Amino acid sequence: MRQAGRYLPEYRKIREKHDIISICKDPELCAAVSSLPVEVLGVDAAIMFADIMLPLEGMGVQFEIKEGIGPVIKHPVRNSQSASTLRDLDPKADVAFVLSAIESTKKRLDGRVPLIGFCGAPFTLASYLIEGKPSRDFANTKALMYRDPETWNLLLDKLATAMIRYLRAQIQAGVDAVQLFDSWIGCLNSQDYEQYVLPHSQRIFKELESSAVPKIHFGTGTSDLLESMKQAGGDVFGVDWRIPIDVAWQRVGHDVAIQGNLDPAVLLADSDLIKSRAADILRRVGSTPGHIFNLGHGMLPDTNPQSVIDLVQYVHSATQKHLEVQAK
Ligand code: CP3
Repeated sequence: MRQAGRYLPEYRKIREKHDIISICKDPELCAAVSSLPVEVLGVDAAIMFADIMLPLEGMGVQFEIKEGIGPVIKHPVRNSQSASTLRDLDPKADVAFVLSAIESTKKRLDGRVPLIGFCGAPFTLASYLIEGKPSRDFANTKALMYRDPETWNLLLDKLATAMIRYLRAQIQAGVDAVQLFDSWIGCLNSQDYEQYVLPHSQRIFKELESSAVPKIHFGTGTSDLLESMKQAGGDVFGVDWRIPIDVAWQRVGHDVAIQGNLDPAVLLADSDLIKSRAADILRRVGSTPGHIFNLGHGMLPDTNPQSVIDLVQYVHSATQKHLEVQAK
């Protein structure tokens, strides 16, 4: 997550001349940035350089991505009137630049590694739309959810419909997997998740069931939510470091894959500590097939790229030994 981000000098150099949105809207530049981590770090997959807010522009939402803060919405959505004016998304018209960036990135990667497409989940997108900016307590979001469930459901339904179209268009353009980012879902308990969120996220997975690509369902702070998120759907569950990965896998069940879960802050430590924490994750998942090693959330800007290169090498060599043992 944010593997192409600010901690990479090559990315910072590009950012001196272009803001995030202009990178996303220039397919060749976007393809170069999306491929950068594969070239510099040696990771096993590229993720499209984009932002979860991009498709909302086509629905009539005006926003900016502020440095060090995140998305800031010009007119937050707080009532049924503003929810009902959100337009339907027409991916070929509204996010044509993402679709051509996918095609360019696929060409650039040339089959070396798969490309992951993504979108925000209805709850996480709604939380930005309602709060207007990143939030600690999600008070406005929860107030709308509890006080006006009709508007809440209208908003989440519109977002779910738009994201189904957006992911379908990304799959058609060539991504090899898709990830649904419900980054802020951990602020809910499982009861509220099931009542207010599950039906909407579930509809996304249901409607994408027939597309052949694997679907990753990610959230942070989800230890009380994993069983409910499993009901919503996904072939892979992405978890953060607040739960031991073997416990998380047990909860979602071994019929799905697990992704995670090194604390990105561990990458700020010395190499011995980084290796021992990575080793602990690998020990916890053992030889069970279906683990994707990943960070539990986005890369921190102060990360030394060399620490990431070393981590990737360490995980490759440790799991290579594993695979050799399995093959014998
Ligand atoms: O992982 C990658 O390399 C792909 C790029 C990517 C970005 N945003 C680019 C970006 C991805 C996968 C996202 C998704 C995204 N955007 C999410 C879901 C994943 C997550 O992190 O939880 C969310 C919640 C957002 C909204 C958003 N955009 C946030 C919270 C921020 C960080 C604010 C900050 O400055 O710390 C952004 C900005 C952003 N999007 C950056 C990047 C690389 C920061 C770097 C920059 O300012 O250039």
